[in-house]
Amino acid sequence: MLDLTQLRTPIVLAPMAGGFNTPALAAAVAEGGGVGSFGFAYSTPEAIERCLAETKQLSAGPLNANFFVFSDVSEPGADQYQHAQAALRALSAAGSFDVKWPTPPFFPDLAAQLEPVWQQRPEVLTFHFGIPDEAIIQRAHQLDICVGVTATCISEALAIQAAGADFIVAQGWEAGGHRGCFDPNKPDDALDTGVLTALLAEKVSLPIVAAGGLMMAADIARVIDKGACAAQLGTAFLACPEAGTSPTHRRFLLEESGRETTFTWAFSGRPARGIRNAFMQAMEGQPLLPFPLQNTLTGGLRGWAGASGNCEYQSVWAGTGVPALQELPATQLMDQLVSGLKKEFSLQR
Ligand SMILES: Cc1cc2nc3c(=O)[nH]c(=O)nc-3n(C[C@H](O)[C@H](O)[C@H](O)COP(=O)(O)O)c2cc1C
Repeated sequence: MLDLTQLRTPIVLAPMAGGFNTPALAAAVAEGGGVGSFGFAYSTPEAIERCLAETKQLSAGPLNANFFVFSDVSEPGADQYQHAQAALRALSAAGSFDVKWPTPPFFPDLAAQLEPVWQQRPEVLTFHFGIPDEAIIQRAHQLDICVGVTATCISEALAIQAAGADFIVAQGWEAGGHRGCFDPNKPDDALDTGVLTALLAEKVSLPIVAAGGLMMAADIARVIDKGACAAQLGTAFLACPEAGTSPTHRRFLLEESGRETTFTWAFSGRPARGIRNAFMQAMEGQPLLPFPLQNTLTGGLRGWAGASGNCEYQSVWAGTGVPALQELPATQLMDQLVSGLKKEFSLQR
């Protein structure tokens, strides 16, 4: 089984659902000695099979397949549906998109999504929003696949350790994308990446991969000093030409990185950090459906915004480090991070 404490380069490409991870991007990170990842939350089994097989043609380095652990949702009442729909229809752009009505099944079948994983056997399998069933962890172990789960606080980390996972992704408050907390309706400790990493290094015995706001070698060295075995970087890779980021989305990230990043629940029904745009602003305090029904409800809006290159109505997930984003090929970015890390560690000695 892959030992994450022994990576040639202590960098994990963050899994990023939505097409940002591509075979070329994952392979570049794996070839650079790190772990190449895919966010497969909403992907079909066919797409998962294709991405893993294509990446294996490009690199023999370690790969990570990542999934969401969706919780059952009780269907909202007609009133709640109508209020949530009305909030979207009140937007100034409302005439341009359809408001989709969520119908069961509300989320993909994880067992079907995992079939290509059992066939292709990536070295790593990770989960966001909770711990998968024990049988999934056991099956992964039988196939020599290392299992990781995101934690945002100490109680989640202890539960992950007790469940028999092999490592923890410590996701700090600065992280771009969805916050991986198990229950978004519980109070959030809002620990930053450094504090969370140090806390988990003291309280749990599993290896820790730190995530959130890490853009440069000095950031990675800082979390390794606090006890992480590796750093998971998402935002830092979004402007690489190998990433699946659309040209308008890429430009928005680079040109609007001076805007603040904030959390919003309005796109999906769960908190996620991104560049604050017109949609986030207009939806403040508006009625929403629970996750992932709100994600379906906003599907038409996001589809229209993506197709028309309108980043004001699209989720532009990014961490607090986005002002340090560079438009560099992934291989060059990896080289830059590796030589920076060498300098950081030789300076410390
Ligand atoms: C565009 C985007 C999509 C993301 N999608 C996922 C995902 O599908 N699964 C997951 O575990 N984490 C996801 N994340 C969170 C990352 O795993 C990681 O915690 C985060 O990128 C780290 O913060 P950074 O973006 O500041 O590097 C996503 C992050 C971004 C920026």
